[in-house]
Amino acid sequence: MTEDLGAALTTATARLAEAGVASPRFDAEELAAHLLGVGRTELVRHEHIDTAAYEKLIASRAARRPLQHLTGRAYFRYLTLAVGPGVFIPRPETEVMVGQVIEHLRTGPAQPLVVDLCTGSGAVALSIATEVPGARVHAVEVDPAAHDWAVRNLVGSGVLLHLADARTALEELAGTVDVVISNPPYIPLQAWESVATEVRDHDPAPALWGGGADGLDMIRAVEARAGVLLRRGGLVAVEHADAQGTSVPAVFRGSGRWRAVADHQDLAGRDRYLTALRV
Ligand SMILES: C[S@@+](CC[C@H](N)C(=O)[O-])C[C@H]1O[C@@H](n2cnc3c(N)ncnc32)[C@H](O)[C@@H]1O
Repeated sequence: MTEDLGAALTTATARLAEAGVASPRFDAEELAAHLLGVGRTELVRHEHIDTAAYEKLIASRAARRPLQHLTGRAYFRYLTLAVGPGVFIPRPETEVMVGQVIEHLRTGPAQPLVVDLCTGSGAVALSIATEVPGARVHAVEVDPAAHDWAVRNLVGSGVLLHLADARTALEELAGTVDVVISNPPYIPLQAWESVATEVRDHDPAPALWGGGADGLDMIRAVEARAGVLLRRGGLVAVEHADAQGTSVPAVFRGSGRWRAVADHQDLAGRDRYLTALRV
């Protein structure tokens, strides 16, 4: 049985809003587009939707399953990535850091050597590989489930993917890398309550809580590993929580391995990532 698409969207939007979904109209449209096999902007060309199938998707979303798990895809810069249970869903906050690093790479060597530590779906590594022609990109992920998703996303891209611990990976590249970029786990354990249901219940635990009690364990590890991997003058970029705009720069300034330590904000004006150059 089918129903009028406009009416179905209105009902679904109200239901998602009531369930506490942050962007109910957008999600209702995305799920309808997914079901109809079209892009969201093409919905105007459709008048009807399968009632039972749409109802099932909306019920799942109202139960706070992530939108991207229901559609199987996530958008990141110019990419559409395959995602699902077992991998962190890439976030818009990370796009700004990646954009700055891409600009930096465009003014450097023709075939820069780049390492993405904690790659998850491969979003960061794949953006750099596709937007910086000539870049030689390595991606490192320790969690086998997340690594499997990265395999899917990176096939044919030229990115070299390693199932390895970012704290010790790629010793063979020591002192030769032009850029190390990372969006590691960084949420402090005490922030558990404030994390959205979709994230808390569905993003994999190693992607969220691997930073330990203060959230800084992996950031300290990335600082140390980038210190080993980068050549003199090489750039490190690392994402952090908005509450870590002072503590993360302190980690880098305190090690004596860096100059030009700078913290940057995301599009919402929140402290979000650090860059520094290897001395
Ligand atoms: C916050 S997610 C970010 C994923 C991806 N970079 C992105 O921005 O969408 C952090 C990722 O780091 C991985 N990870 C955690 N500890 C790690 C370690 N010691 N070595 C390598 N990867 C690690 C997690 O499994 C997860 O995929």
